[in-house]
Amino acid sequence: MMTDSAIKKLFETYLFELNFEKKPENLYAPIRYILENAGKRIRPLLVLWSAKSFGAEIEKALPAAAAIEIFHNFTLLHDDIMDQAPIRRGKPTVHQKWNENTAILSGDTMLILAYKMLETYEGLMYKKLNSLLNKTAIEVCEGQQMDMDFEIRENVSISEYIEMIRLKTAVLLGAAIQFGGIIANASDEDLINMSNFGIKLGLAFQIQDDYLDTFGRKDTFGKRIGGDILDRKKTFLYITALQQATDKDKQKLHKLYKDNKIDDDILIAETTALFIKYKVDQLARSEMTAYTNAAIKALNRTELSTDQKTFWQKFALDLMQRAF
Ligand code: IPE
Ligand code: IPE
Ligand code: MG
Ligand code: MG
Ligand code: MG
Repeated sequence: MMTDSAIKKLFETYLFELNFEKKPENLYAPIRYILENAGKRIRPLLVLWSAKSFGAEIEKALPAAAAIEIFHNFTLLHDDIMDQAPIRRGKPTVHQKWNENTAILSGDTMLILAYKMLETYEGLMYKKLNSLLNKTAIEVCEGQQMDMDFEIRENVSISEYIEMIRLKTAVLLGAAIQFGGIIANASDEDLINMSNFGIKLGLAFQIQDDYLDTFGRKDTFGKRIGGDILDRKKTFLYITALQQATDKDKQKLHKLYKDNKIDDDILIAETTALFIKYKVDQLARSEMTAYTNAAIKALNRTELSTDQKTFWQKFALDLMQRAF
């Protein structure tokens, strides 16, 4: 039996053996920079754990795990341009350290490298993995566009928000888990149930990301606190605050988001104060718990053994405790 940290190590060794020491330097250096400054590595771990749970050799899933992590990091390079984010994982973002053109092109290259990783699979397995990545990649773009569209809309409903985060974030977690299942030849029914587990978990994950963006700690979160407020994002916090607020405070929230001359720190402080006044931090936590419980329900519909279900359930519950 391999421990989780051993699996993570195995993955990172594999990833760095892919060798991104190529020319031109200005194309590959940002790729090494973002991949070496490790995040949580949740998506590749989901691929590997899922392959293992459904009975495959972990090694067989390594290229698929790398595909997902490279794809994820590609989305971050472009997302940080779109969100004008200055820091990621505690370091300057690629477009800050280099420039936007570099972040676009290194990102494009990573997207293609992700697909290239799948070339190690053959026949029907290759076809299934490739189709799933195609479907998921398009959905992520759809979600990203909705997220951008919502910045300039005054009112966004909770159901529109949930659909947006399902697309921009949750389907990739679902795909990671399905990747492992496909490699292990899991049944279609198990794939569907595990994918639902991943998607529900992904919804909780993005609500928590919204929460941490305002209420996280600067030293652990690794991104600019209040960045979503500066971008006028229609996050779970903002939408819920609008729902809960008195008419007077509703107007205040609208006014804050419409004011493009306001000082950054004042905007963040006043918006956060209204979030706290209406307890949206607590509401976000309970929404996360609800989606995590829904995820566990989907997990329990699979044919996995009790031991494996316990493992996945613990992972889901631990994920809610993260600080970054
Ligand atoms: C960041 O994903 C983008 C979101 C979907 C919130 P992660 O929070 O998994 O980022 P890293 O890879 O661990 O840095
Ligand atoms: C995450 O959205 C979705 C992506 C496809 C990257 P965010 O914009 O909230 O992600 P972070 O907070 O920058 O990591
Ligand atoms: Mg962002
Ligand atoms: Mg974004
Ligand atoms: Mg975020």
